[in-house]
Amino acid sequence: MFRISGTRNIKSGTFLLLGSLIFVVYFYKDSTDPNTISLQVDWRNNHERIKSPTKNNTYVYSWPSCQQNMSAANISGFSSLPAGIQNFLYYRHCRHFPMLLDVPDKCGGVDKSADIFLLLVIKSSPVNYERREVLRKTWAKERLHNGVWIRRIFISGTMDSGFEKKRLNKLLELEQREYNDILQWDFSDTLFNLTLKQVLFLEWMERNCPKARFLLNGDDDVFANTDNMVDYLQSLKDNDGSKHLFSGHLIQNAVPKRGSQSKYFIPVQVQESDSYPPYCGGGGFLLSGHTALVIHNMSQSITILPIDDVYMGMCLAKAGLSPVSHMGVKTLGWYIPSSKLDAHDPCYYKELLLVHRFLPSHIYLMWHRIHDPNLKCGASKKILSQDKAVNYKW
Ligand SMILES: *[C@@H]1O[C@H](CO)[C@@H](O)[C@H](O)[C@H]1NC(C)=O
Ligand SMILES: *[C@@H]1O[C@H](CO)[C@@H](O)[C@H](O)[C@H]1NC(C)=O
Ligand SMILES: *[C@@H]1O[C@H](CO)[C@@H](O)[C@H](O)[C@H]1NC(C)=O
Ligand SMILES: *[C@@H]1O[C@H](CO)[C@@H](O)[C@H](O)[C@H]1NC(C)=O
Ligand SMILES: *[C@@H]1O[C@H](CO)[C@@H](O)[C@H](O)[C@H]1NC(C)=O
Repeated sequence: MFRISGTRNIKSGTFLLLGSLIFVVYFYKDSTDPNTISLQVDWRNNHERIKSPTKNNTYVYSWPSCQQNMSAANISGFSSLPAGIQNFLYYRHCRHFPMLLDVPDKCGGVDKSADIFLLLVIKSSPVNYERREVLRKTWAKERLHNGVWIRRIFISGTMDSGFEKKRLNKLLELEQREYNDILQWDFSDTLFNLTLKQVLFLEWMERNCPKARFLLNGDDDVFANTDNMVDYLQSLKDNDGSKHLFSGHLIQNAVPKRGSQSKYFIPVQVQESDSYPPYCGGGGFLLSGHTALVIHNMSQSITILPIDDVYMGMCLAKAGLSPVSHMGVKTLGWYIPSSKLDAHDPCYYKELLLVHRFLPSHIYLMWHRIHDPNLKCGASKKILSQDKAVNYKW
């Protein structure tokens, strides 16, 4: 919750959830190409992937398109709900979409994935090209830090329709060719589809990267001090990712917004219960590979709630696990106590894990400033040590 993200025209392309484990793998040519070749595989028992003849290293798992659930219109009060909510209810059950871009070898294969200490999983919609470019050069750079690997993946849907959709897909395809860091599925990348995006990623992870130790799951408009994250995770007693960890900006006692004007409006028709479980703000949170797989498992039997971070909390609750607060994660931004102090003083950011809402240019600048060997942090260090809440080591 509390995030800003472009909501676009809602595409009515629909896909049917196949209850069975059988699905279709086809050779990808174009999502609208009628001449696709199909073959059936049971993917639980057969992880065979088909290499695309037209795109390098691209694999596609596909299901027949998900049908609109007409019975949703029978829910009481349906006709008075906003169109976006109605649309959500019609397609709420759809959980499988064809992959347009994949990087199945991102983690080096199932077993090698244990070599990845921190996987950065960044929600990015197709238009956010500048943000991706800056992240690739700054905190999301793939690298070895303190002897362990950091890897990056952007997760995306599609936007718009017709020529515009094609154009944006082409952009991602070009980026993919250069960087190999995008997972894209063919569903509308809207605010209320973020949970779907999250669940699709977890499914991908289970298939391709199940042994990654830790993940940072977040948005593309945050400043993340990924060096500090690795240091912090390495300092944990259990730092091999096999124990529960879910940490970030903890939100407790939140309730669904019942006013239809709210961006996060959740009417009783979507969720009856008047409370949300504890969860961490979706701008960015850290979790262990173990916890990611548990969440994925739980998600299969929990109806989709369109608010992705709350939904993660629901999955944790069902597994009997709790999210915890990390004071270094400021997904609501943070406030400097005095107007005499510069909120962009790099000395603050040197000590934090994550701050929400940064412009690409500010991310670029800040990343370089905190790595400047000549940076002196005497005075502001003092302020930091007074504010335990700010220092990530607390
Ligand atoms: C395809 O990918 C492989 C390795 O992933 C690379 O060696 C090869 O050059 C690529 N081919 C093309 C045509 O991009
Ligand atoms: C909606 O409800 C009506 C009346 O109960 C029923 O006749 C109809 O089949 C329902 N429609 C769907 C799509 O379930
Ligand atoms: C369709 O919507 C109705 C009414 O909300 C619901 O009872 C039913 O389970 C839904 N069907 C599917 C396949 O999700
Ligand atoms: C989610 O994406 C699907 C597939 O594009 C679309 O049919 C549905 O309307 C989207 N849902 C929302 C709430 O935007
Ligand atoms: C998934 O959850 C079910 C219970 O819902 C449990 O029996 C199973 O062991 C879990 N699998 C994993 C891999 O956690």
